[in-house]
Amino acid sequence: MRVTVSVPGKVTLLGEHAVVYGKPALVSAINRRVYITVEGRDDSNIKIFSNDIKLQGLSLKLNGEMSSFEFETWEKKSQILEPLRYILKALEVAAQHYGKKIGANIMVRSEMPIGAGLGTSAAISVGTVAAYSALLGHEMNLNEVARMGHATEVAVQGIASPMDTAITTFGGTLYIKPEGTKPFIERIDVPCDFTSVLGYTQREETTSQILRRVKAAKDQNPKVVELIMDAIGLLVEEARSCIKKGDPKSFGDLMNINHGLLDSLGVSTRALNEMVYASRSAGALGSKLTGAGGGGCMIALCPDRAKEVSLAIKLAGGVPFEVSLSSPGLRVEPPS
Ligand code: PMV
Repeated sequence: MRVTVSVPGKVTLLGEHAVVYGKPALVSAINRRVYITVEGRDDSNIKIFSNDIKLQGLSLKLNGEMSSFEFETWEKKSQILEPLRYILKALEVAAQHYGKKIGANIMVRSEMPIGAGLGTSAAISVGTVAAYSALLGHEMNLNEVARMGHATEVAVQGIASPMDTAITTFGGTLYIKPEGTKPFIERIDVPCDFTSVLGYTQREETTSQILRRVKAAKDQNPKVVELIMDAIGLLVEEARSCIKKGDPKSFGDLMNINHGLLDSLGVSTRALNEMVYASRSAGALGSKLTGAGGGGCMIALCPDRAKEVSLAIKLAGGVPFEVSLSSPGLRVEPPS
């Protein structure tokens, strides 16, 4: 049996990091996807193939075409290859949930840079859980898949909000507020033009490392950092009204404030800031880093100015790409 699923990447419109500490966030699925194929094997091995898993600029290409990593046992995990940790943990979580495991070949293909703030860890976790569950003979229940995807991220990273795994599973644009074990989720219709351009730059740190840095900053200055998190939460509430009213201009202003607060937490970089400011000079209504930061991606909200903003990002040293928001969530792909 062979199953292929695809899962979208995401942009956090507002609220990353604070969402880890219980504040709300606004997040949207983008039209770039990760494809995960799982195929049963006759033995109990797990074999993972990918032509685009990259780690800090290192492109792992064996035989010129495909990377192939073979793990003889479930316990033998890679410590260095971040995406593989998510795949292996997702398999383990699903196997434990169903009390069953079988050998499989796993093929991963991504239409966006991995580990760049676009939720690829969540997409890989959710996609692997979903495809492997199907291989084990279980129907996909989206709530269960999102929960197992989140458990995977928590196990690998130590800390993770349910934001990325929810948006990659359900798609669309979501207002999400973590509440106990089950987050509050509201689907948001985007009534006007929210054309956005992303700018990509190399990321030097993994999401786990950046999350640990923010936690250390919070432990060191709890009162100040809590105020910053509260302010981000308030921005999200305001932005939720702006998006519902169809007011991208005010939404953009809130994105700019959000970027300043993220910078104050130490998660922006010079390269990100340059792209953020260049976009605003080129006419973006708002711009901010998106995702964990430490490099990776920024987002510029720029209806009517996509070309100018793309050029500005390029001149600032980044790789621009236009995305559309509110894309569909997890889906099963037809057999190839
Ligand atoms: O950089 P990404 O795509 O892994 O996004 C991380 C988003 C955070 O809010 C920083 C962490 C989380 O778990 O929500």
